[in-house]
This record gives sequence, C-alpha cells and structure tokens, in this order.
Amino acid sequence: MKNKKTFNLSLLNAAQREAVEHLYGPVLILAGAGTGKTRTVISRLVNMLRQGVCSSEILAVTFTNKAAIEMRERIGQMIPKDEAKEMMVCTFHSLCVRILRSDIEKIGYKNNFTIYTASDQVGLVRKLISRHSAKDESLDHNLAISLIGRSKNKGISVSDKEGALIGEIEKAYNNELKLLNAVDFDDLLILAVKLLKEDSSIKNFWSERFKFITV
Ligand SMILES: Nc1ncnc2c1ncn2[C@@H]1O[C@H](COP(=O)(O)OP(=O)(O)O)[C@@H](O)[C@H]1O
Ligand SMILES: [Mg+2]
Repeated sequence: MKNKKTFNLSLLNAAQREAVEHLYGPVLILAGAGTGKTRTVISRLVNMLRQGVCSSEILAVTFTNKAAIEMRERIGQMIPKDEAKEMMVCTFHSLCVRILRSDIEKIGYKNNFTIYTASDQVGLVRKLISRHSAKDESLDHNLAISLIGRSKNKGISVSDKEGALIGEIEKAYNNELKLLNAVDFDDLLILAVKLLKEDSSIKNFWSERFKFITV
C-alpha cells in the first residue's frame, strides 16, 4: 500500500498539539478562519485511533456537506481507509437521517421516508398557494416557506396574525408531507430530537454508540 502521510505532532503548533493530545473530556477550539482548526480536529481524530479508540465510537459532525467532504478527504490522506471505515464523519442533517431511518416508525412515519429538498418545498408550496388562495389573495411562496420553517422550529403554528391564508397553507403543507411519508430539512432535525427525547432506549443506543464526538 502507498505510504500515507504519517501522523506527526511536529506539524502542529503548541496549542494545536495540546488539543490533539487531549483525548478524554471536552475541548473547545476557538480560532479564526484558516488558522488550523480543521488540521487540529483531524489530527485529534487520527490520534484517537492511534491510541486504540475504535473507529465506530467516533462521530465527527459538521454543519455543511462541503466541510464533511473536506474532513473525509483530509482524514483519508493521513490514515489507510480501512482504519477509519466506521468513523462517522457527516453533517448534522445526515446524522439525523441515520437516526430516523432506524427508528422513525416509533413516531408515526415509515422508515423509507422521502426527504423533501428546497426545490420540492417550492413546488409543493406553490401548488398549495394556487389551490387555496382566493382571487384577490396573494402570498409569496418563499415567504410562506420561511414562515412555515420558522414556526416549525419554534414548535408552534404560524400565528393567526400572519393571515388566514398562510395558516391554511401551513396546515396543508404539513398534512401533505405526512401523507406522502416525507420530511423536510427542518423535520430531519426536529424529528430526530423528538425521537431521542421520547424514547430512552434509542437515546441510550446512540449515546453508547459514540464515545467521542467532535463538532
Ligand atoms: N501548525 C501548522 N503548520 C503549518 N501549516 C498549518 C498548521 N496548521 C494548519 N496549517 C495549514 O493551514 C491551512 C489552513 O488550515 P485549516 O486546518 O484548514 O484551518 P481552519 O480549519 O482553521 O480554517 C491548511 O493548509 C493547513 O494544512
Ligand atoms: Mg476548517
């Protein structure tokens, strides 16, 4: 096999090395863009493996797909693929998909649920607006989508003050998604949290699965 760039603490400055060598308990890395945070996080993950941590016990979450891809690529440059095979390096959303695919039936969906993308949402909301609005009514679909998302995240329905039409669209949107066994991006996060809160055996499963979590 081609030799991977070996793990080398001398490629790190003192602060980075301190974070990398800290294996157990929380570490917070606060630094500006381009200052070496990702290098530190990746070196820390590689160090965990070198110290005998099992790759399946490690979870590294990112906010964006781009960051997750970059992390996977850079980890791949440092260690052989099979050593990190079971390390989960993914976004918050894909972690939630994984959690929901195994147990979403406990909260009334089927496990083969569809994920509604932003453009699926636009299509559905536009259809609902034209179906529900009276001749003299109009509602911008982007505004509707953002109001629906905002109220979903707050856990309350769109306020009546926002107008009757949006309230109607919101109800119809959520009903239609449920009927289609579909979830949108907000649902991924909200439903995963709901599942973990409501079912302690699922919560225990995931909290035992990951012993080392990096964000
Ligand atoms: N201690 C270091 N010595 C030399 N180069 C470094 C060091 N730490 C990071 N780098 C390099 O600096 C660049 C930015 O690092 P990166 O970890 O991506 O930063 P951040 O995640 O904070 O934006 C990368 O090319 C990385 O390899
Ligand atoms: Mg970075």
